[in-house]
Amino acid sequence: MDTGYINIAIVKYWGKKEFNPYLIPYQGSISLRSTKLYTNTIIEKSEYDEFYLNGIKQDEKETDKIFSFVDKVIINRKEKIKIDSINYVPTAAGLASSASAYCALTKALNRYFNLNLKENEMAKISTMGSGSAGRSFYHLAAFDKCGNIYELETNLNLSMLVLVVSKEKKEISSRNAMNIAQLAPNFKKWVERANNDFEKMKIALKENDFKKIGNIMENNTIFMHNTTFRSTPSFSFLNKETYNIIKKIKRFRREYKLDMYFTMDAGPNVKLLYLKEDEEKILKIINNNFDCEIILC
Ligand code: DP6
Repeated sequence: MDTGYINIAIVKYWGKKEFNPYLIPYQGSISLRSTKLYTNTIIEKSEYDEFYLNGIKQDEKETDKIFSFVDKVIINRKEKIKIDSINYVPTAAGLASSASAYCALTKALNRYFNLNLKENEMAKISTMGSGSAGRSFYHLAAFDKCGNIYELETNLNLSMLVLVVSKEKKEISSRNAMNIAQLAPNFKKWVERANNDFEKMKIALKENDFKKIGNIMENNTIFMHNTTFRSTPSFSFLNKETYNIIKKIKRFRREYKLDMYFTMDAGPNVKLLYLKEDEEKILKIINNNFDCEIILC
């Protein structure tokens, strides 16, 4: 059995430049890997290709999607296999992640077909399934605009939690949204900006400057979501409750002098970045002020 953890981007990947055959993103991204939310995957020999998720046999569409990735990794595959994945990510929480899935699957393929791949090779390969998956091979991961994926270091004890705003399935997948956003008039600006954020974030992490990290992260997420507003058709992953939470987080930061920062991905849920040593205090504030579900990452 192989495990892949989800990761949450503090500098976002939001644009595909090309596949060569691995993904070359338009901009560098940086993420923090969860220690709690993951996918487990086992591969077995089978008479035909089949894919089970959480014990349920998946339909042709889902199966074809997974196996098109398998066939990119194992060229000229003769043997049929059963892929059995269990998601320990609350799927209803908008966290259901292709990153943990493709990370676990790449490791499982490596094991089953004796590919003897190094971690770094697996990371790159997994990006053919999902761009963010490559980052799940590292705790504090950088995925640069040349397609390199590597570990970053900081002395800070970074932690994250999710404020669950909505449990509904996303109206638009991150993949489709990204494709549309790539045509937005402000996409070029976003790419420049995001690559700048990537460089600044690397320095802030190295210098253990948490305020800087939080500020770069918040501005980066706002700019990313701006590309969706400016898309045709225009859309937004965020809702009223998201903005309400953002406003309160900014206020708590001032009032309690506690460093906690927000970021959002392809959904309305708000992810908070904070230092582990502040967790108790932050949870108290959150619990007293929000009645939404909280998931520690
Ligand atoms: C908003 O990795 O889901 O979460 O490569 O098409 O599978 P594909 O996209 P995906 O995109 C993640 C987008 C994001 C930001 C991020 O995680 O960096």
